[in-house]
This record gives sequence, structure tokens and C-alpha cells, in this order.
Amino acid sequence: MKRIEAWFPTHIYAAVLQPRWQALNRELLAECRQLRDFDEAGRKWSAKNYPGGYTSYGSLDKVHRMSSTFMELQARIDRHVKAYAKILDFDLSERTLEMTDCWINIMPRQVAHSLHLHPNSVISGTYYVATPRGCAGLKFEDPRLSRFMAAPPRVPKVRRENQTFVTYPARAGHVTLFESWLRHEVVANPVEAERISISFNYA
Ligand code: NI
Repeated sequence: MKRIEAWFPTHIYAAVLQPRWQALNRELLAECRQLRDFDEAGRKWSAKNYPGGYTSYGSLDKVHRMSSTFMELQARIDRHVKAYAKILDFDLSERTLEMTDCWINIMPRQVAHSLHLHPNSVISGTYYVATPRGCAGLKFEDPRLSRFMAAPPRVPKVRRENQTFVTYPARAGHVTLFESWLRHEVVANPVEAERISISFNYA
């Protein structure tokens, strides 16, 4: 008898923010653009660290405290994080997980965000505000990659769970959650229209 089982999964959570997300999303879209126009320090920071795009990461990284619209978004995301923490079997009986950072990303054509992880956080994620057709998704890397050493390359038609990378499409109104140690990237956005997202950390 032979028994082969898969262990130590990496959980990625994807869901619609709420059944009727469109109205909140419209307000978020307007506020993201207003913040960019208002945030001169952020535009300067982005010119250096996020060429071609805008992120409030270096200037306004607590947008969840800046307006009732963003507070509403946080309340919605909190519920998803709670559900995700349950899947991960986190014991939160004497601890709380709360949103510590929240920032805006606006990516026109060719803007990319190279492989990174989110140190000092537990759960991270993104909510999508504007996702023009064909825009870049969120690409995750197998966290064991650095340990594969002499492992041969894999066949072209690899089984789903043996993929080295997986890309989650960016879809407006959807939220994606992952554990903060999981490396991810956004490849160069191939479309002209702006891809707008809101990223966050929980700790
Ligand atoms: Ni990230």
C-alpha cells in the first residue's frame, strides 16, 4: 500500500469584499485619486521608488485612519482577515490582529513592483479598486524555492500544487490575503489604463 499526502500548505485567500461593493468602490476610487493629487511628498517618494506610478507607502501609510470611506473598507477587510486567521488556526484568544498600515498604489502602463515580502507583519493583502482589462495580477512564489538546491526543473505540464509561481488575477471589488512572509510581485502592467489597488498589513 502506498500513501502520498501533501503537507505544509501555503494558504492564499481570495474573496469579493462584500456582495454590493460597487458604491464603496466608487468612493474609494475618487479618494485614491484625490490623495495622489494632494500628496506631494508621496509623488516625490514614488518618483524615486516607484518609477512611473504613485504609491502612498512612503508618505501616507495609514490611509485607513484618514476618512470614513477607508474606515469602512477596513471594517470589511477585518471580517475577511478573521475568517482567514481561522483557516490558519491562529490562536487569537489573547491576541488581536489589527490593520497597522494601509496604502494606495496606482500603476499605469509598465509600472512593476518587484518580488518582496512584508516584514514585521502577520497577514498582508490587497483590495482592488480599478482593474482595467488585461492588467497585471498578483504573482506569488513558492516559499521553499531557496531550499530546492539540486532539484531538477519541472515538466511543462506540472500539477497545480507543484507550480513554482501562481498568479492571482486582479479584480475590482475583490480582496486577496496571504501570510506576510510569502514573497510576491506585480509584473509590469501591460495596459495603458491605471490599475489601482489598496494594500495593507495586519499585525
Ligand atoms: Ni506587497
